[in-house]
Amino acid sequence: MTRRAAIILAAGQGTRMKSPVPKVLHRVGHRAMLDHAIDAAEGLGCERIVVVVGNHSPEVRAHVEKRLGAAAIAVQDPPLGTGHAVRAAEALLADFDGEVVVTYGDVPLLRAADIAPVFGGGGVTVIGFEARDPGAYGRLVMDGDTLAAITEAKEASPEVLALTTCNSGVMAAPARLLFELLGQVTNDNAKGEYYLTDVVALARGQGAPTRAVMASEDAVMGVNAQAELAQAEALFQTVQRETFLAAGVTMSAPDTVHFAWDTEVGAGTVIDPFVVFGPGARIAANARIRSFSHIEGATVGSGAEVGPYARLRPGADLGEDVKVGNFVEVKAVRMDKGAKANHLAYLGDGSVGAGANVGAGTIFCNYDGFNKARTEVGEGAFIGSNSALVAPVSIGAGALVGSGSVITKDVPADALAFGRARQITKEGGGAAFREKAQAKRPTKSK
Ligand code: UD1
Ligand code: CA
Repeated sequence: MTRRAAIILAAGQGTRMKSPVPKVLHRVGHRAMLDHAIDAAEGLGCERIVVVVGNHSPEVRAHVEKRLGAAAIAVQDPPLGTGHAVRAAEALLADFDGEVVVTYGDVPLLRAADIAPVFGGGGVTVIGFEARDPGAYGRLVMDGDTLAAITEAKEASPEVLALTTCNSGVMAAPARLLFELLGQVTNDNAKGEYYLTDVVALARGQGAPTRAVMASEDAVMGVNAQAELAQAEALFQTVQRETFLAAGVTMSAPDTVHFAWDTEVGAGTVIDPFVVFGPGARIAANARIRSFSHIEGATVGSGAEVGPYARLRPGADLGEDVKVGNFVEVKAVRMDKGAKANHLAYLGDGSVGAGANVGAGTIFCNYDGFNKARTEVGEGAFIGSNSALVAPVSIGAGALVGSGSVITKDVPADALAFGRARQITKEGGGAAFREKAQAKRPTKSK
């Protein structure tokens, strides 16, 4: 395999998104579109990745710097067209002698496998697609099997406009050839821009091979407005659902289950309708996730049951056969095998040992307004309903905590702890109270 590099264009303003968030940082499957583009480049084995950014969005710059380092950033300012944008990356690739692929930061569904056929053509290769509505896309003008030119819609004759095979924007060529050709591109056209697409005809003019490989229209879809972002999300979700169904995950209403880009679900797991996965969710095989649960940054072991209406937040780590029931929130808590918190509880920062039972209404009071502290519940412990465990605190293995307790001191193993006011019962007191109260009542006038 020849050496590969990628240039990802992300200098456009994205004004049609009408959002203060830069376009390429909008998310699909909980991952920035730009990161999807970088993932694809990495998946292709690109040893160099350059992202072309504009000066108008320091957030994009910071984002790229964090993931790839400052050396991956080329600045294009002002944006004078796609050809001009690629040239902005030239200096950073001056010492690179392999093949370069140009992709866009706003095309989130295109994966490495879709792009791979673009390499190895020797000359200029573009990814084309059959457009349902060719509109403003550049048209691929073919001469038999070779690509004669790409004509932008604004420059096209009626015959060329009638073509439905369009340019996705992805193009690959040997780096030296690409930059040499770009040096010849002018902005003498309808938009007054330097078109990257002009390199096709230039390459052909000097006898270099030019060709198109095809991808599906869905895979190459670009996002320019919020409606398209929602459409990309829908397509992304469809692919995720199909992937999980094919891998043996049971979903009775897959259209109502939302996955993140990195969700993992094992075979034999059942996901009931209306479940949402945020990033970082790992569900083992043979688990059950019931309706209306929200799971993010959490691990669920095999045989575990979650929900309905459960919330697992980052660091929730549920072992085998754990049960987390309705209206239970778990954050940064490890629950060992067979532990249960079945109803209405908050478990934040701590651990629950194997087989322990956390009763309804239990709260791990983990925050004093300044700092967080941990609650450790030992193996086989039983926490009575409506208890507040005030962290830092630990409940020993096999210990029992009486219902309604406020526990502020550690409870040793096998102990029984109560932390509540004693009950007072007065025989006949209820009847006496009722009599007094009725006597005080004003008589109703008719
Ligand atoms: C481009 C192609 C067109 C193709 C279409 C696919 C050219 C001349 N035309 O058209 O053939 O069908 O994409 O969507 O290449 N960008 C920069 N700097 C610039 C201009 C653009 O970084 O100066 C980036 C944009 O942020 C965007 C991408 O390049 O991610 C494409 O730019 P856009 O203006 O949308 O290109 P089109 O005119 O739609
Ligand atoms: Ca566009």
